[in-house]
Amino acid sequence: MEITHIEHLGIAVKSIEESLPYYEQVLGLKCYNIEVVEDQKVRTAFFKVGQTKIELLEPTSEESTIAKFIEKKGEGVHHIAFAVPSVADALAEAEEKGVKLIDKAPRAGAEGLDIAFLHPKSTGSVLTELCMPGQGK
Ligand code: CO
Repeated sequence: MEITHIEHLGIAVKSIEESLPYYEQVLGLKCYNIEVVEDQKVRTAFFKVGQTKIELLEPTSEESTIAKFIEKKGEGVHHIAFAVPSVADALAEAEEKGVKLIDKAPRAGAEGLDIAFLHPKSTGSVLTELCMPGQGK
């Protein structure tokens, strides 16, 4: 698989508002985008750290996988997202190598990215996202 860089780290939080002071006032990062991703039932807040981003994920519903994650494990690092030239190709390669997939095909994520997740059962329990700029960008 051809990974170019870590695109972002996803961090599960109960409340973006309550988390902002740490990221902005302590770490000195600037939140440049807050966006709701309806189909994932999350609200996201983004910070840039070099070419990598921090993505805070706040559940907008109890049905959200983020709500379930926080319930089970508490707030904290939720996933790592690698940038690849083609999500579809990377998924095909991962599947061919026996990796269990959460997404069989790329779907739309926040920030205009096409994204897909590999299953933590195949990744040493690290939820792994593959992403690339979407068709719209
Ligand atoms: Co992500």
